[in-house]
Formats: sequence, C-alpha cells, structure tokens
Amino acid sequence: MLVNGKEMRSLWYEDERLKLIDQRKLPEKFEIFEAKSVEDVAYAIKEMVVRGAPAIGCAAVYGVAMAEDLERAGKMLKETRPTAHDLFYAIDTIMEKIKNGEDALECAERYTEEIVEKCRKIGENGAKIIPRNARILTHCNAGALACVDYGTALAPIRIAKEKNLFVWVDETRPRLQGLLTAWELEQEDIEHAIIADNSAGYLMYNGEVDLVIVGADRIARNYDFANKIGTYEKAVVAKENEIPFYVAAPLSTFDKNIENGNQIKIEERREEEIFSIYPWKPKKAKNPAFDITPAKYVTGIITEEGIIELKN
Ligand code: MRU
Repeated sequence: MLVNGKEMRSLWYEDERLKLIDQRKLPEKFEIFEAKSVEDVAYAIKEMVVRGAPAIGCAAVYGVAMAEDLERAGKMLKETRPTAHDLFYAIDTIMEKIKNGEDALECAERYTEEIVEKCRKIGENGAKIIPRNARILTHCNAGALACVDYGTALAPIRIAKEKNLFVWVDETRPRLQGLLTAWELEQEDIEHAIIADNSAGYLMYNGEVDLVIVGADRIARNYDFANKIGTYEKAVVAKENEIPFYVAAPLSTFDKNIENGNQIKIEERREEEIFSIYPWKPKKAKNPAFDITPAKYVTGIITEEGIIELKN
C-alpha cells in the first residue's frame, strides 16, 4: 500500500519485534506500535491496534513465533477476538508447522507473504467484475490495513482503478473503520466520498450505486457470512434495488466446520465505543461488532482461486 507515496505494509517483523501501523491513531496520527512479546501481540489484537481478519491472523502467527510456550500462546491469542476465522486458522496452521519441526519465524514470514499474495489475486479476480465508471459502495475497512497489503474488498478497486472508479465509503460506526478506507483511497488517489452509514440505502434507491463489495470475517459452508455490523442491511437494500453485492475474502476466511451463519460467534464490544463521541453518557448501549448476512443476498464471493457465483 502507498503511504505518502512510499510502499508499506500494515505490519512487519524487524529487530526482534512485530511492528504495526497503529490503526487506533489513524488517520490523525501515523504511529508504529512495537510488540516485543506474545502478550504485546495479544494486546494489539484485542485493542485493535491491528484489525481486519487477515491482518490479525498475520499478527497472531508472529505472536506464536515470539512465544516460548506454544500452547499458552495459542490459547492467549485465540481468546483475543472471537469472530474472524483467519485468526484461528492462522494460529492452528503455524502451531502445526512448528510442531513438525519448522522454524517458527520463517513460518510466520511465509504465512504473511502468502496472505499478501492471496489478496493480490483477489484483486485480479475481482477487477474483472468491475465495470468502467462504476460507483462502488464498501463498508468497514477491508483494505491493505486490514490485510497487510492490497486488501480484500479494496484490492479489486485498486487493481481496476484505471477504469475511472468512484467509491462510496460507509463511515462504519462505532469504530469508524470507514475513515481508514477513506485514508487508504486518498493515498492511492482513488476518488471517493465518505457517507454516514444511514445514507447507503438512500443512495442505492436513487441509482447512485452500481456495485457493492465488502470483506468478510467468517464464511459458513452455505456461504452465509459475518462481516462488520451494518453489512446485513446494505445487502438487503442492494438486493431490493437489484445492485450486485460481492464479498471478497481469502479461503482462510471460510470455516468448513460450520453449516450456516447462525453458528458464528458475534463479538460484543464495550459500551464506551458507542458513547465515546457524546458529551452526555446514556445509561446503556449495545455494541455487537459484526452481523450475519444470509447467502441469498450475495451475488458472488471473490477469492484468490476465482469467483464463486451464487446465482442470486
Ligand atoms: O473489527 P474489525 O475492524 O477487525 O473488523 C473486521 C473487518 O475489518 C471487517 O469486518 C472487514 O470487512 C473484513 S476483514 C478484511
């Protein structure tokens, strides 16, 4: 990804520590968080210094590689966040390789390179379904920050950017991941506008959206999927208005062990994330971080191996 014109990744290993662009501080401040231990990595994932399913998987493999007690590290990292399948897939993958005698750090580096390559391929595959002059709506941040590089939903947009694209960016309350998306698009010089989450339906109804592309945190066997809270309603409104709705995700996001979306555990986060922007504090808030979108609303799933057409 470009940061002030220079190629960068959202995380990398250097000087015996994992360095992460601190996504809590962006876009106001560009700071690097340094994780020196598995405990630091677990903190970074839980507190969303690093976020987005593929990126937290990559952070976790470095966490395992830095640990002395493998089982303890795996358990600690798996307890950080419950919904993204990549986190669990990444931890299980590296633990198995280490147990088979492979070098821990080399495994972490390789896992991360592979994720970047998968996202690049998602970009190439997804670019084919983007028409010229398309106005694309996206939700949350499924860009390079969330995936180390390229992104999932943003990868096709980056690769097809010469097609004169425009991106509607949902703000994504309460953590405002849409600001991260707007920041990435600005860095890549792709035309966009941020909108309040409530505006998406109005724009779709008015014929101002040609295509929706979102990421995913976990995809069930029947292709129901979990993604950032607010995705479900965008999918329903897209179908109502006959707008193609695509999900972009690597195969590591597919959970073969669950039949449908109702079996996905949805993370509940702190109430303060909701009220933090108010001067007055209401008594109660509810803050589910993800929702489930049934497969019947999905046109297709863009993966590194091609597009799964769902014929909806
Ligand atoms: O809670 P977050 O910010 O870690 O949310 C996960 C996500 O980034 C999104 O849901 C995204 O659309 C899928 S992961 C690329």
